[in-house]
Amino acid sequence: METLRITGGRRLRGAVNVAGGKNSSLAIIAAAALAADVSTLENVPHCRDVTTLVEILEALGARIAFVPGRLTIDARGLTNHAAPYDLCRSMRASFYTAGVLLGRMGRAQVPLPGGCSIGARPVDFHLRGFAALGAKVVTEHGFVKAAARRLRGGLFYVPRSSFGTTTNMMLAASMAKGTTVLQNAAREPEIVDTAVFLNLMGARIRGAGTDTITIEGTDELHGSTYTIVPDRNEGGTYLLAGAATGGDVLVEGMIPEHVTALLTKLEEAGLEVVPGTDGVRVRATGEIRALDVDTAPYPGFATDLHPQMAAMLTLARGTSRIRETVFESRFAYTDELRRMGADVRVEGETVHVNGPSRLSGAPVEAPDIRGGAAVVIAALAAEGETEISKVENLDRGYEGLEGKLTLLGARVVRDGSAGIREAG
Ligand code: UD1
Repeated sequence: METLRITGGRRLRGAVNVAGGKNSSLAIIAAAALAADVSTLENVPHCRDVTTLVEILEALGARIAFVPGRLTIDARGLTNHAAPYDLCRSMRASFYTAGVLLGRMGRAQVPLPGGCSIGARPVDFHLRGFAALGAKVVTEHGFVKAAARRLRGGLFYVPRSSFGTTTNMMLAASMAKGTTVLQNAAREPEIVDTAVFLNLMGARIRGAGTDTITIEGTDELHGSTYTIVPDRNEGGTYLLAGAATGGDVLVEGMIPEHVTALLTKLEEAGLEVVPGTDGVRVRATGEIRALDVDTAPYPGFATDLHPQMAAMLTLARGTSRIRETVFESRFAYTDELRRMGADVRVEGETVHVNGPSRLSGAPVEAPDIRGGAAVVIAALAAEGETEISKVENLDRGYEGLEGKLTLLGARVVRDGSAGIREAG
């Protein structure tokens, strides 16, 4: 098993490049598999969730080449409609194969997905959405089986403006007969990215980025070439790491408009924020002030930046509160922060952070992708050495984590066996 050893107490300074969006890549790679054709995707991050999806699609018959940054998918041979349990169980986005297979072949057998342990995370909304497109859907023995001779367009209200449901519905409905209207759709930049790519493939999607998305189905999609949008969650993580260490970090390539809620909160906490055409820079200027933060679907404060924000707020003066409204139990990281001396407690859906704490290095684990990032941020700001286990959770979502942190002046060493496996 691998661990990360971080010697804290150094201010992070300098510039790093933002990676391509993980969540966007997962949706867009799945979209590419809708066409019996070849697509080339640029700016795909080399992280474990992406390689897992690659392996799933290969098991379904696609041929994929993945070199740093560029993924080429040839989905002509994708003829298997049953997704493998052992790969799907580890990742929620594996469920996009349900929308792809249903849209392309009219039948799908996909295991109920796994993923980060941050709440129940069922797929009931997705299933209701497929049913609204005329599919017959049953769940038995841990698998979802869905079938339709031909999907037909329909009206669907997306509960809780679910990101994954909106994505899966765009995938399936792109190949349905007739027009689908999604109300209360998710509005994330990654939804827009996916819709833009699908339209390049020949789909007819309007309204992505608003809460009403209209999809006119088509009989056939073709391959295309596309560059994935930058990862606002990865970029935000480095900005928060810079802030927590009293540093000065520029995340190059980050799109400021995608993180307005984060930047507003950072300014409120007393940090200097410089959004520009080259990226986003955040500089510590003195004491960090406590904050009240509510997570919310985009354009609200991203739930995927909640744990990292909490880690930074352990260094802020006063009592901060973060109310988690998207996932019901995204709090495992708080146990790890407490081991490092943070004064953090969870009450219902709210995390209370009293600061500033004098954090000290300790053996801890990365409980999930973003919870792991929170632990890394605390370790960077702590006195002494922190050893982080379960690094595989960080590798699911962060490309080249220790390289980027080292570039910013951190002391980080990975111990243990080789890094993530090459796919393709
Ligand atoms: C995606 C992102 C994740 C991000 C989240 C919210 C990927 C791979 N993951 O997750 O990083 O934090 O959006 O921006 O892109 N729900 C149900 N039933 C369903 C679907 C969702 O109850 O069928 C609930 C979830 O448990 C959660 C809420 O709805 O409480 C929102 O989930 P959703 O927006 O669907 O998140 P994901 O697509 O899973």
